[in-house]
Amino acid sequence: MSQHIISMKDFSRDEIDIILNMAREFEPIARGSKSSLLSGKILATLFYEPSTRTRLSFETAMKRLGGDVIDLGSVESSSVAKGETLADTIRVIGNYANAIVLRHPREGAARMAAEYSKVPIINAGDGAGHHPTQTLLDLYTIARESNLSDMRIALVGDLKYGRTVHSLAYALSLYHADITLISPKQLQMPDIIKKDLKKQGANIRETSNIEEVIGEIDVLYVTRIQKERFPDTAEYQKVAGIYRVTEELLENARDNLIIMHPMPRVDEIDPSVDRTKYARYFQQSFYGVPVRMTLLAMAMGAV
Ligand code: NCD
Repeated sequence: MSQHIISMKDFSRDEIDIILNMAREFEPIARGSKSSLLSGKILATLFYEPSTRTRLSFETAMKRLGGDVIDLGSVESSSVAKGETLADTIRVIGNYANAIVLRHPREGAARMAAEYSKVPIINAGDGAGHHPTQTLLDLYTIARESNLSDMRIALVGDLKYGRTVHSLAYALSLYHADITLISPKQLQMPDIIKKDLKKQGANIRETSNIEEVIGEIDVLYVTRIQKERFPDTAEYQKVAGIYRVTEELLENARDNLIIMHPMPRVDEIDPSVDRTKYARYFQQSFYGVPVRMTLLAMAMGAV
């Protein structure tokens, strides 16, 4: 496995399984048991786009393992505002930290950063590209709350701009999942990804209608329409609020269905769904901690 974590395309199923198994061992530490595994190590977090869960769960993971975190802070308060290039920022921070978590609005930014970095780069989202650490925690959630084998899963919402679903789809094809892609026409999964998935032998179908499949799936993975990626707000308005998961929709769900969402949600899951037995999205955000502990321990050579 390369020391950088850039895209799910770079992972084999065996490598993913190793990470998921190790995350299980880190769970007690994620819940508060003491560890000094990464004591003396420093993680740098560079977020050029907003983040709550990703940044704070990396920070929690690092601190619970006894390590420290330095944070670039807001882009406006750093030298990025003076015109410093990403390449220079990465070269400098590599002198301070043992690994760098990077989120950037440009697709390909993490791959580029890795070329300049002497410490591992962990991609925490590059534009509409990839979000591999989210995928690993998504897979971990499925393994813990459902079943990774013979899974029937529907990905719903913004499949065009959503980086979480791009990364997840690649990984699901390694697990031979039965995948239904649910989106309006203008937000379908990019052809290039569908082609790759089919090449890997993935079983995919497309529809625009959740009702059609709700009774047949084990996992419903809901995503936000990525407003900030639309070139034109009028185009966004046409699809805003197009899907809403409600208790009524779930009347036809299978008993074992789990509902996931990388969060933040806007209006695509009605808050009344939170108290149903199907909801797992808050649990899912907790699982980010043991999974990111594993990735940090690996990146820093501690396991
Ligand atoms: C996602 C992201 O940033 O891509 N959030 C996250 O990391 N949990 C999903 C989103 O913003 O919709």
